[in-house]
Amino acid sequence: MFIFVLLLGGLALWQAGTAIYHLWFSPLAKFPGPKLAASTLLYEFYYEVICSGQYTRRIEKMHEQYGPIVRISPYEVHIKDADFCVEAFSPVKKLDKYGWWYRVFGGPGATVSTEHHDVHRSRRATFKNLLSPVAVRGFVPTILEKVKQAGLIMSHHAQMGRPINMSNLYRCIAADTVSAYALPASLNLLDSEDLGEEFQSGLRLFFEAATTMRFLGFLQPLMMMMPDIIFKRLLSDPAKSLIKLIRTIQRPSDMEKSRSCLIECIKTNKYREQGDFRERLLQEAEQFIVAGTETTGYALSVTTFYILQNADIQKKLRQELVDAQISLNEDDLDITVLQNLPYLSAIITEGLRFAHGVGSRLPRVNKTGDVQYRQWRIPAGVPVSMTSRLHHEDPQLFPEPLTFRPDRWLQPDSKQLRKYLSPFGLGSRICPGMHLAFSEIYIAIAYIFTHFNVENNGTTKEDLISVHDLGAPFPKRDSKGLQVTLQLR
Ligand code: HEM
Ligand SMILES: *[C@@H]1O[C@H](CO)[C@@H](O)[C@H](O)[C@H]1NC(C)=O
Ligand SMILES: *[C@@H]1O[C@H](CO)[C@@H](O)[C@H](O)[C@H]1NC(C)=O
Ligand SMILES: *[C@@H]1O[C@H](CO)[C@@H](O)[C@H](O)[C@H]1NC(C)=O
Repeated sequence: MFIFVLLLGGLALWQAGTAIYHLWFSPLAKFPGPKLAASTLLYEFYYEVICSGQYTRRIEKMHEQYGPIVRISPYEVHIKDADFCVEAFSPVKKLDKYGWWYRVFGGPGATVSTEHHDVHRSRRATFKNLLSPVAVRGFVPTILEKVKQAGLIMSHHAQMGRPINMSNLYRCIAADTVSAYALPASLNLLDSEDLGEEFQSGLRLFFEAATTMRFLGFLQPLMMMMPDIIFKRLLSDPAKSLIKLIRTIQRPSDMEKSRSCLIECIKTNKYREQGDFRERLLQEAEQFIVAGTETTGYALSVTTFYILQNADIQKKLRQELVDAQISLNEDDLDITVLQNLPYLSAIITEGLRFAHGVGSRLPRVNKTGDVQYRQWRIPAGVPVSMTSRLHHEDPQLFPEPLTFRPDRWLQPDSKQLRKYLSPFGLGSRICPGMHLAFSEIYIAIAYIFTHFNVENNGTTKEDLISVHDLGAPFPKRDSKGLQVTLQLR
């Protein structure tokens, strides 16, 4: 008991000491923001871990009170200024990622969590060509195959008169597509009886755990010591099959059979890092599944929801698809024809504005010099972050930001507007999967709205709108997802 009190007392003293430093002696002492947030990381911990991914919403409120730059923690500042962010995150700038923030997404071997600019560049170069627009075009038949498989499930539900959870179905399409692309075989969630429900809830757990581990990283070695038996119990079946799938990549015989895939690309590339190569492969693979599933599934769900909310939008979309006489056959589907349809494109662009990809902030570090923002000189090495959603919902940039209006992308001056839309991030760390994601979204929306009459089955905004920004955006816990009823056309 005595030792416990002593420990607690020591901890309190240490907290007080560091708080005094952070408040009065830190180089960030003069930056605006709540004093509590500046004095201890426990403030962020409360919003991110206890309230599960709510710090981004809190940061938004801070900007309302303190202006465009706020100190959000003892170590980090956040800027809400679209023009500055677009400039500061430009691809030519050699910025690092903030290691503390990113390392929880996929481990140190994954491209997404790579801290240093130069290391990242060489990693990213290994799969650059495989995700190019041309390479993705070659993959269009596979995407269509997945969408058609989903179409069969939808027809089945239509015949039974049963509503279907499109939030799940879309994530299945996304997971099966990205795994078919990045691994020697697809995860085939579309074959699962629960429409991937277990896998999706596992993904949410992954994001929650990652956010927690950011603060409790010191517990990681303890978890590593956990016996395999306990670990296996914690993993869901789909997670286990993912690991099994990746392990098979290690066998050369399977490699021969498999198509050129990302993992293989990393493996055969001249870039072969020191350290545990297998571990890195696993981390890259996991990253692709995680980065490609939740984001794409969410964007598709949100876009579909808003199409269903507005009969006029739905009618115009249908008309355009009918007039264009799009062929959705593997042999002659030309994705560029789809991508050139102005109204469909406007809908998808507006959908991405609402889905805003990664809901959380994206922190970067300039190690080479101070960053000047207005009268503020941010010392070299201090993480500076921005949040795309705050730009997407800024009424100065997008009037009536919470109204879904594809027309805003069809105006003479909408080209300029595009600059402020960054669902895929900005700069050298921009999403490499965006061409694949776009192809999936175009094909899925076009396919579904040509083959089905779709009706919302009681889904409200609250079932979709993110209230937990855990990297990826998540709605309230008891969300029903996007429930629709279908009729074959
Ligand atoms: C609508 C769908 C998608 C959205 C909105 C999206 C959004 C994003 C964003 C915002 C980032 C930057 C994160 C940061 O700066 O920290 C990112 C990175 C990344 N995304 Fe996506 N993504 C999508 C789909 C995909 C797909 C399908 C793949 C897989 C092929 C993918 C793979 C990645 C990877 C590997 C990174 C890390 C890139 C790096 O650090 O260089 N994403 N994504
Ligand atoms: C980082 O600092 C260097 C040196 O001060 C500067 O040239 C560069 O523009 C800075 N980068 C950003 C993104 O502000
Ligand atoms: C949802 O679908 C079921 C089955 O078709 C139907 O009975 C019910 O009325 C629908 N509810 C709403 C809110 O549309
Ligand atoms: C529908 O899918 C979403 C996303 O996976 C999930 O959160 C939700 O619980 C599902 N809804 C039902 C009623 O199962």
